[in-house]
Amino acid sequence: MTASSPCPLRWPAEAVWEAAAPLLPGFSVEVLPEIDSTNSELMRRLKGGPGRPPQPEPLLLVAEQQSAGRGRLGRQWQSRRGDSLTFSLGLPLAPAGWSGLSLAVGVAVAESLEPAPLGAPRIRLKWPNDLWLATPDGERKLGGILIETASWGGVRHAVIGVGLNVRPVALPGADPAAALPAVPPGCLQALSAGLDAPAALLAVAPALVRAVLAFEHSGFAPFAARFAARDALDGRAVQLSDGTQGTARGVGQGGALRVQTASGPVEVTSAEVSVRPVPGAPAAPEPPC
Ligand code: BTN
Repeated sequence: MTASSPCPLRWPAEAVWEAAAPLLPGFSVEVLPEIDSTNSELMRRLKGGPGRPPQPEPLLLVAEQQSAGRGRLGRQWQSRRGDSLTFSLGLPLAPAGWSGLSLAVGVAVAESLEPAPLGAPRIRLKWPNDLWLATPDGERKLGGILIETASWGGVRHAVIGVGLNVRPVALPGADPAAALPAVPPGCLQALSAGLDAPAALLAVAPALVRAVLAFEHSGFAPFAARFAARDALDGRAVQLSDGTQGTARGVGQGGALRVQTASGPVEVTSAEVSVRPVPGAPAAPEPPC
């Protein structure tokens, strides 16, 4: 194989369809060799355009390569053919509330890839949309979730994008002389050596469909304990992008992040806020009762 004729990836589109179609009338699966972003493409298809009727039916769109993958808070999402799994699920959805959907999706993705951990789960969930992998060298970002919504014909639709690192990648431009070398991302093959992007899709996609439908029916409650079992931040000192510091204390029944601060407990729901653990910091002391 040469760079111009890469190994074909054998996508289990039919098996994914067979697993999910009974749950989602009108469901289809499509694999594209390249697109800017599977989320952007599903949004465009939902709205339609000149000579292109809207496509409101449930669709799982996989891209072997994204040229302009998007992450949360306007960030880029970098991925490479075969090294990553990038897909989006678009469907009409009418939950009672949307808060906690990204956490429910994270639970489904993590559990489908690591169904029965022997001890502490290695795939952890960092509120609100990151998947981390615990490695002997510390936690590494394994993947992320980007959820967007749009209305068509008076019906709200969700586009749920999932990006997972599958194979280890060398960091382009990593400077060996840098005081703090760039940290390579985590990858699924560090968890399960033989796993490739198509196999990961077959594990994740049906579980994702089931989880989204369960969320539509019952909200975040059925996922709360399962999220807690993989909560990467619980009990850790954290800093929010709005400057708030405190100790993460799990998530509420609606999926809000609970943070104990010096001035009392706060609940974070804003999609605009990012949170990071403070490296090496002990958990902040509790305020006096
Ligand atoms: C994040 O970590 O901020 C979320 C990353 C989400 C990336 C996925 S890849 C498939 C889908 N298409 C995109 O452009 N983004 C999501």
